Amino acid sequence: MAEKHDVVVIGAGAAGMMCAIEAGKRGRRVLVLDHAKAPGEKIRISGGGRCNFTNIHAGPKNFLSDNPHFCKSALARYRPQDFVALVERHGIAWHEKTLGQLFCDHSAKDIIRMLLAEMQAAAVALRLAAAISKVEKIASGFRVMTNDGAVEAASLVVASGGKSIPKMGATGLAYRIAEQFGLPIVETRPALVPLTLDPVQLEKIGELAGVAADAEARCGKAAFREAVLLTHRGLSGPAILQISSYWREGAEIVLRLMPDIDIASILKGMRRTNGRQATHTALADILPRRLAQFFTEEAKLTGRMLADLSDKAIDTLSASIQSWALKPAGSEGYRTAEVTLGGVDTRALDSRTMQAREVPGLYFIGECVDVTGWLGGYNFQWAWASGFAAGQEV
Ligand code: FDA
Repeated sequence: MAEKHDVVVIGAGAAGMMCAIEAGKRGRRVLVLDHAKAPGEKIRISGGGRCNFTNIHAGPKNFLSDNPHFCKSALARYRPQDFVALVERHGIAWHEKTLGQLFCDHSAKDIIRMLLAEMQAAAVALRLAAAISKVEKIASGFRVMTNDGAVEAASLVVASGGKSIPKMGATGLAYRIAEQFGLPIVETRPALVPLTLDPVQLEKIGELAGVAADAEARCGKAAFREAVLLTHRGLSGPAILQISSYWREGAEIVLRLMPDIDIASILKGMRRTNGRQATHTALADILPRRLAQFFTEEAKLTGRMLADLSDKAIDTLSASIQSWALKPAGSEGYRTAEVTLGGVDTRALDSRTMQAREVPGLYFIGECVDVTGWLGGYNFQWAWASGFAAGQEV
């Protein structure tokens, strides 16, 4: 005899737990299944252990999707302020770090504890270490086969996340279930991920590994202003993670280092006041020293005094720093990607409820859906909002 519930949620991550809480509050008998030994593992490691749990500026413009309108309804119904109110009800101290990003003062574990307490209050059952072998449609809803037997429910919510960080248990199960029920998938790829350079470029910039600078990273029409970090594999730092979601193989990334500064004017001013200064020394007043040396060498100006430089030479040097074009060879892949771009095609889902249009009772929420946020708390906001939306319906 299969065990019966009203709702089975696959995945005790951010989206699955939020959905279960909301459904439980409505009096639904909810079971959450997860193959991991602990719930909310990605919450635990997020935001450097402090969980950037939302972004106060979160709105549809901060999300990538084949259908940019899809996320609007859910985001409007569960806003960052709603999650902040929940966090405050649990007495969790938080702060805004930068750009509207809200973090726990103490630990991401506070968020997991809060969600578990809410689940308990809503009488949600949680079963961990549950390996799922099969999902099937039955007359009364769905049957899920686990290592612990079969469970049945009228509503099945798939909240098993994307493919990023397989070492932490990401499996791509959601895409397989979607395919099984005939839902289309928008091609998936790693996003919010460091980009790699080919060996030739790496040899050139290898000695810059570890250097960070304020920059605007641009790819096509998308541009992000934050720090860029040069690594022994290529490019990282928040500006690069952001732009990686827009980058495609073959495209160039253009970095404008020190975007607020008119480097050419400053160097020309220094040439007037202190022309005997070596170019790389003058540049080191503006840029990290190793970058100053690198660009001076690239421009073949090593050892030259500022007074020796023509306006044109200064303009060319400045342009090399403020429109530095690099062609990534690839990305570090799902091993380090924070999220998965693409996923269950939103055209197959109802934007108000997250229910599959052609399969009543089947819901997809969170990262497995083709809605991907920028870096900075947006992805959790989508997980909370889509989980909340489904939680009102299941
Ligand atoms: P999530 O991946 O959280 O949960 C899915 C659950 O399903 C997991 O518990 C998993 O074990 C389970 N599961 C998977 N396959 C299964 C299977 N076959 N059977 C049973 N269970 C299965 N975002 C943000 O907004 N702020 C931040 O600070 C960060 N920081 C961050 C750091 C790092 C290192 C990463 C990798 C990611 C982030 N993110 C983030 C992104 C954020 O973690 C992500 O968007 C959400 O966790 C997505 O929530 P979901 O609930 O959809 O999936």
